[in-house]
Amino acid sequence: MKKSERLKKIPPYLFVKIEEKKEELQKQGIDIIDFGIGDPDLPTPPHIINKMQEVIDTKEAANYPTSRGEFPFRKAVSKWYQKRFQVELNPRDEICCLIGSKEGLAHLPLAFIDPGDIALVPDPSYPVYKICTTLAGGEAYPLPLNTANNFLPELDKIPANVLKKAKLLYINYPNNPTGAVADLGFFEKCVKFAKQHDLLLVSDLAYSEMGYDGFKPHSVLEVPGAKDVTIEFHSLSKTYNMTGWRIGMAVGNKEAVHALGTIKSNIDSGAFKAIQLAAIEALSGPQTSVEENNKVFGERAKTLINGLNSLGWKLPHLKATFYAWIPVPKGETSASFAEKLLEKCGILVVPGNGYGPSGEGYVRLAITLPKERIAEAIERMKKLGLGPIY
Ligand SMILES: Cc1ncc(COP(=O)(O)O)c(C=O)c1O
Repeated sequence: MKKSERLKKIPPYLFVKIEEKKEELQKQGIDIIDFGIGDPDLPTPPHIINKMQEVIDTKEAANYPTSRGEFPFRKAVSKWYQKRFQVELNPRDEICCLIGSKEGLAHLPLAFIDPGDIALVPDPSYPVYKICTTLAGGEAYPLPLNTANNFLPELDKIPANVLKKAKLLYINYPNNPTGAVADLGFFEKCVKFAKQHDLLLVSDLAYSEMGYDGFKPHSVLEVPGAKDVTIEFHSLSKTYNMTGWRIGMAVGNKEAVHALGTIKSNIDSGAFKAIQLAAIEALSGPQTSVEENNKVFGERAKTLINGLNSLGWKLPHLKATFYAWIPVPKGETSASFAEKLLEKCGILVVPGNGYGPSGEGYVRLAITLPKERIAEAIERMKKLGLGPIY
C-alpha cells in the first residue's frame, strides 16, 4: 500500500494522542481531572432536543439535504446575524450550512489555495487552518501571538515577498487557544489590510457567544465594507452545547461562500435535515440558555484563575471562550509541565506547542468541568509545589 506524500505531512490530530494517554491512565484506576479537548459538559437545551425528536420521524428528514443548507436554515442564520450583530446577509447567496464549522474551515483552502500559495495563519491557533492549507498544497506562514502583542497578529511585520503569495488571512476572536479577544478597531485593520493585499479574510467566530461579565464579542462583518473581503465561520457547537450534532455556517462574501459551496457539493451532501430544523429552533428560539451557560462558565473561569493566581500565576480574568492559556513554571516546557500535571496530579491539560511553535511555554486548560473539580485540581497542584512561575 503506497500512501500519498500529502498524508506524510499531516501529524496525528492533537487530541488523538491526548485521548489515548487519558484512557491508559484511567485503565490504571487514576481519577483524571480533564481540562483537555474543550467539549461543553452542559446539556443541549431541551427545546432544541424536543424539536429534533419532533422532526426526525418524517420522510422529508430522511432524504438528501442540499449541501449549501435548506433555505429556512439559511433564513434563520440571516435573522440571527441581523439581531445579534446588525449585519445583513442574503440567505440566497451569502450563507452556507456546514457540518460543523470544522468541516467548512477544512474545505475552504481547497477553493483558494494552489501549490505555492500562502495562508497567513496565527501561531498558536486551531490546528485545522494550517493542516488543511498544507493538505491543499499550500504553505502556512505563522503570525506569532504573544503577550507583547496582546495575542493579536502584527500584520505590518509580514514580509512583502510573503504577502505576494498570500491568499488567505485567518483570524479567530474570541481566540482558541489563548482566550484573547479583539475589538472592532482590530477587525477594521484586518479588513483594510485584506483589501490592500487582495486577501480573503477568514474570520472564525466559533466562540462569539461565550463572553463574561457583560463582554459581547463582535463579528468582523460589522465593519463597513467587510463583506467585500470576508468569509466568517460560525457554529452552534459551543453556543448551544451541540458539539456532537455537527452544525455550523459560513457567511459573508458571496463569491467566497459560493466557492466553498462548490467544493462541498462535490464532497458532502450537507447536514442532516432534522439537525438543520433543530438548529433553526436553536437560533430563533429563546436564548436564555446562552446566558445561563455563560454564568456557569464565567464562575468556573473565576474559580480557575483565582486558584492559579493563589499558586503564583498573575493571570487576568477570562473575558470570553472557555480556555485559560497559562505560562508554565520556570524551567518547564509545555510538554514537561503537561506530563508532570498528568502523572503527578492526574490533571490533563493540552501542551501549548500543539497549537504551533509560539505556543511553547504554555498549556491550555478548558473549563468544561464542574467548579468543584476545578477547585480540586488547584488543591492537587498546591500539594505538588510548583516553584517559581515567572
Ligand atoms: C477556533 C475553533 N474553530 C472551529 C471549531 C470547530 O467547531 P465545530 O466544528 O464544532 O463547529 C473549534 C472547535 O473546537 C474551534 O476551537
